[in-house]
Amino acid sequence: MPNLFSSIKIKNINLSNRVVMPPLAVRNPEKSGFINETVIDYYSKMSKLGMSLVITENVFVSPESRVMPNQLLLSHDKFVEGHKKLVNFIHKNEVKVAVEVNHAGANLFNIPELKTMLANKDESDFVVEAEGDTRKPLNSINEKDLSKDEIRRIVESFGDAARRGNDAGYDMIEIHAAHGFLINQFLSPISNKRNDEYGGNLTNRIRILIEILEDTKHKIGNLPIIVRFPISDNPPQFNFYPEGFAFEEGLKGAKEILLKGVDMIDISGGYSGSRPKELKEIEGYYVQYSEALKEIINVPINVTGGIRTPEFANYIIKSGKADTVGIGRALLADKEWISRAKRILEG
Ligand SMILES: Cc1cc2nc3c(=O)[nH]c(=O)nc-3n(C[C@H](O)[C@H](O)[C@H](O)COP(=O)(O)O)c2cc1C
Repeated sequence: MPNLFSSIKIKNINLSNRVVMPPLAVRNPEKSGFINETVIDYYSKMSKLGMSLVITENVFVSPESRVMPNQLLLSHDKFVEGHKKLVNFIHKNEVKVAVEVNHAGANLFNIPELKTMLANKDESDFVVEAEGDTRKPLNSINEKDLSKDEIRRIVESFGDAARRGNDAGYDMIEIHAAHGFLINQFLSPISNKRNDEYGGNLTNRIRILIEILEDTKHKIGNLPIIVRFPISDNPPQFNFYPEGFAFEEGLKGAKEILLKGVDMIDISGGYSGSRPKELKEIEGYYVQYSEALKEIINVPINVTGGIRTPEFANYIIKSGKADTVGIGRALLADKEWISRAKRILEG
């Protein structure tokens, strides 16, 4: 029976234990989109803490797809060199690293958490003159907001960013489909108002993700793909969005994406986000979902969200509710978390 410190193989990648650092964006003052010393320093320090896999913070597929101008880019080959350097620093600590690629999408200003973050920003901050592009804050996804040509370009920009990730030496690619960002906006009936083949039933709402996976797969060959998947817009314990992406659809959607060769599902929530404040007291609030998903699929599952204690993390793995656990805020707050876990669990 595996425990928190058992190894596991994700496709052809060996992970030395079951602790994953989930995407945790560092505060970076720079607006160029390049990897800089702040970023290198942060990941060098974090990757020394004993996890087997680091998943980077979201790195954006185009300048206009960012939420804020200080976020990282993989939208052009000129960014690859910096990512190579970052990968090398992380690999020095014998840790695997996946890059999370994201497009923030249309409804940026409607996501409550982001609204607060954006409150003090000026719209001109989002004009990225160097690449001649301006982010478009839209209110919903309908045919006028985003044409099929634009969808095609976005799909290809995910594949291209993933290809650059491969060129930079990342061990895996994570596609961010959760937390109310673009792919989540297509999946969710709350924001998807399209009447064409990208809106309506699940097959249509998940089409953009399927196309992204096809394009990515084609461009990265054998590199493992993880999808950060919003299995529902609601956490198991609350029904914040009665009209949102339902858990039953999430289970069906997960099966669909596996047919496209996804190697790991990284469970998170949708519109209620990665850290619903109502669930502050509940440890491992998405574990119920990963347990249900594990019953019907056969690829490794990572679960993240409110996991605080080594005992609980170990219990998740030992009872087969997930294959790996993401430890985010607990690790930021206590850099000794993993070594302490080792002491507690292995004596
Ligand atoms: C400071 C911070 C930055 C984050 N950045 C990202 C990100 O870039 N991409 C992402 O998918 N999730 C991001 N998250 C969400 C975390 O990956 C994680 O899902 C969430 O914090 C819940 O897990 P935890 O309770 O272990 O922290 C971030 C969370 C925090 C606290």
